[in-house]
Order: sequence, then C-alpha cells, then structure tokens
Amino acid sequence: MSFRILVVDDEAAQRSVLSRFLESEGYTVDQAESAEQALRQLENESADLIISDMKMNGMSGLDFLKQLRERDPLIPFLMITAFSNVSDAVDVLKSGASDYLTKPVNLAELAIRLKKELDRKIIMEENRNLREEVLTHSTGETMITRSPKMNGILNTAARAARTNVPVLILGESGTGKELLARTIHSLSPRQRKPFVPVNCASLNAGVLESELFGHEKGAFTGAVSVRTGRFETASGGSLFLDEIGDIPMEVQVKLLRVLQEKEIERVGGNKRVPVDFRLICATNRNLEEAMEAGRFREDLFYRINVITLSLPPLRERKEDLPGLIEHFLESWARQYGISVQGFSSAAYRKLLQYNYPGNIRELNNIIQRAVVLARGDTIENIELEGAAADSAGDEDFSGTLPEAVRNLEKRMIMQALEESSGIQLHAARVLGISERNLRYKMEKYRIPGKGDRKP
Ligand SMILES: Nc1ncnc2c1ncn2[C@@H]1O[C@H](COP(=O)(O)OP(=O)(O)OP(=O)(O)O)[C@@H](O)[C@H]1O
Ligand SMILES: [Mg+2]
Repeated sequence: MSFRILVVDDEAAQRSVLSRFLESEGYTVDQAESAEQALRQLENESADLIISDMKMNGMSGLDFLKQLRERDPLIPFLMITAFSNVSDAVDVLKSGASDYLTKPVNLAELAIRLKKELDRKIIMEENRNLREEVLTHSTGETMITRSPKMNGILNTAARAARTNVPVLILGESGTGKELLARTIHSLSPRQRKPFVPVNCASLNAGVLESELFGHEKGAFTGAVSVRTGRFETASGGSLFLDEIGDIPMEVQVKLLRVLQEKEIERVGGNKRVPVDFRLICATNRNLEEAMEAGRFREDLFYRINVITLSLPPLRERKEDLPGLIEHFLESWARQYGISVQGFSSAAYRKLLQYNYPGNIRELNNIIQRAVVLARGDTIENIELEGAAADSAGDEDFSGTLPEAVRNLEKRMIMQALEESSGIQLHAARVLGISERNLRYKMEKYRIPGKGDRKP
C-alpha cells in the first residue's frame, strides 16, 4: 500500500514537478489547484500527507492549514514558502504545519522530510492502536477494594498471574469472580492474547463439548461447517471456565484429558491438535460437596485447584462499600450523561446498611436504577427490593386489579414519603392528595410515620 499525498499549488508547473517527483518515489499523488478545491477533495478522499504552497490565489496556505486543523489535528502538513525569514517560518509552524520548505524546493530534501513525517505518522497510529488494545484487553475495569482480605487475595492473584498454574476462583454470585479472572489474565504474560470465557452452566453436554473442542464438518446433524473450539481460540491466552461446578460428568472426563495431554480432538475428527491456554475456573458451588455426591470428579478437582482464591461476600467487607458506591455512581452518571453528585444521607445510610445477597452485582444494579430515576443532583430514593429481583423495572401484573391498585398505591406513598424525608405535608403534595387522606392511607397500609420509624 503506498502513501497518498495531496499537492496543493495554484501554479501548474510547480504542481506537476512535485507530483512527478513524488510518483517516481512511489507515492500516490492527488493534486488541487487551490485550497478551496483541496478542502472539497479531502471530503471524499483522505490523504496521508499534504504539501501546500503558502501564497496562492484565493485562500492562502496558512488559512488552508488553519481550516484543515479544525477537522484533522494530526495529518502531516508540509508548507512550501518563498521566504527564508525566521519569524514567518515560526508563524507557519505555530499554525500547525509539521514542517516547511523554502523555494526553490530541493527535491532530495523534500524526500527526506516527507519520509520523516510519514514515519512519525505510522508510529503515532501504532501507539493509538496499542492504547486501544490495552483498554479493550483490560476492559478498562479495575477491582476496587480496600479490604485487607481482598488485598491479600489480589496479591496472590498477581503472583499466580506470572505463572501458568491453574487458578480456581470461588465465591457467591456477584462477588467479582469474572472480573478477577480478567484481572489475572491482564496481569499475565498472556495479556495480549485472547481471554476466552465459557459459561459451562448454560450449555448441555453435547453443545458444551462442541463449544470447547470445536467440530469437523458433518460431525453431527447441523454441523454444516468446521467450527474452532474455545480451547483453540484461547491459544496463547487464557480460558475461563465459568460455573465449572455445573459441568456434566461426561465432559469432565474429556476436560481432564485435555489438561493432562495438552491436546484436543475436534468432535467428529481424528486429528490431534496441540493447545496452549492458561486455565482459570470459577464456581459458586461447593466442589467438595459435589465430589462427595459423585457429581464432580476428584482427579479433575485436583487439576484445576492449584491456587484457590475465595472472594468474600460483600456483607463481609463492608469497608468496600463507599469506594464501590462512588465508582458505580460516577460510571453510570457518565454513561447516561446525568449530573448526579451524590446521595441524601438517608439514602446513603440505606446503602450502607443493606446486606446485599446479590453482592457487588446487586449493588451495581441498585445504583444504576437510582441514577436513572434520579430527579435532581442528589439521589434521595434507593429501591432495594426492586433491584434484588432479576426483572428490575418490570411490573408484576399478577393478582386481581384491586390488589394491584393497592400495591401501586402503597409503593407510591412510600416513595413520596422517602423523597420528602418523611414530611407528610410534602408527601401529600407530591401525591396530589390531602394530608388527612395520606394519613388515612398510611394507616390502612400500615406504613409507619416518621416518628415511628427506626432511625
Ligand atoms: N471489586 C470490584 N470493583 C469494581 N467492580 C466490581 C468489583 N467486583 C465486581 N465488580 C463488578 O460487579 C459485577 C459482578 O462481577 P462479576 O461478574 O465478576 O461477578 P461473578 O462473581 O462472576 O458473578 P456471577 O456469579 O453472578 O457470575 C460486574 O459488573 C463487575 O464489574
Ligand atoms: Mg460470573
């Protein structure tokens, strides 16, 4: 692929000398006889570098450069000037030219400067790609914690990451098992290679097997083409077997063989393919119990369980709450473009007191909801049950109509009281009913008033 260079000059002779020279150097050349035309051309065809004369009829080279920089701050730009006056040259560079050459143009000199600019462009682009790669690899997510126990775990994880030993991550649902697995991968020498997650719980034995091992064309009905399995996709990288406790017995045998032999056979094939992956497993089940019940192979357990990391539930590391709350608040507010600053003290207290059966995932959901529903800078209302249920936001339409109406009434009243810090007059206004009517309904639904509530 050759670089594309746009030559802008209102003098035809000069333009064609430059163009012929550049073509002889192997570049692809476009020409424009004015800055205006160049700007139009650039709308349709981009260039890798622009060479422009300074003094032209119509828009000057300097104005051209200024306009161009508004659209594209990075494209290399060589200005050709008639002067050798230093202060004018400084002006040109200040306006964003990469370099300048004085007339008459020395072609050998031009070739050198050009090459320098293009090399720089390549390096800049490589750096940008690299940055993007790093971001996507680490998913930009960091584990937030100040719990000593968690820090101990992260320490072990970082040391294990340098080696190739299998890691088993245990913990309740939502404690950050997958995030930890990704962190280990991104701290490992395999960081630039794929991280391949497989959820073993959601697939039956047959599907899981062809997912992991891949299959040859025609291996079974429906296998219309060759499929590369995850063991192979993870080549050079890490394979994350999530919910390993749910893997069917017949697949367990095969997995064990892969771990012993570091080779696989695609389903329906007979070729043995060497595989190279780092294994990270996770489960929220008790594998010892599963082994006793005969649902998990002991030999497999010892293979995958070289380093074990047990993530404590959130309720056992409440010191992590403030950091996590702030982190999730900021990231949801940014994502939705909503300017929420923080929580009312009642709402914050509620967040700190809750015990999070769904752990960090639940906390994240709760904050997401609160940010979406926020009515101002401060979040006053925290809905705990709604977030705990999986179907956050879905209304439950079961039961009779009067039951549903009563439910809705009760919830609206509770929300209004919450938002007006228990001041019944305010809550009644929000609801559009009289204060007396509100008190009547609160009694009916057994909603405690401010004075009756626990602090
Ligand atoms: N220490 C942490 N700091 C910041 N975010 C976290 C932390 N731990 C978990 N999270 C976030 O909480 C959510 C749940 O984490 P993750 O999916 O890793 O949990 P899990 O244990 O795999 O859950 P499950 O068992 O439900 O699959 C994710 O959005 C994750 O990014
Ligand atoms: Mg998970």
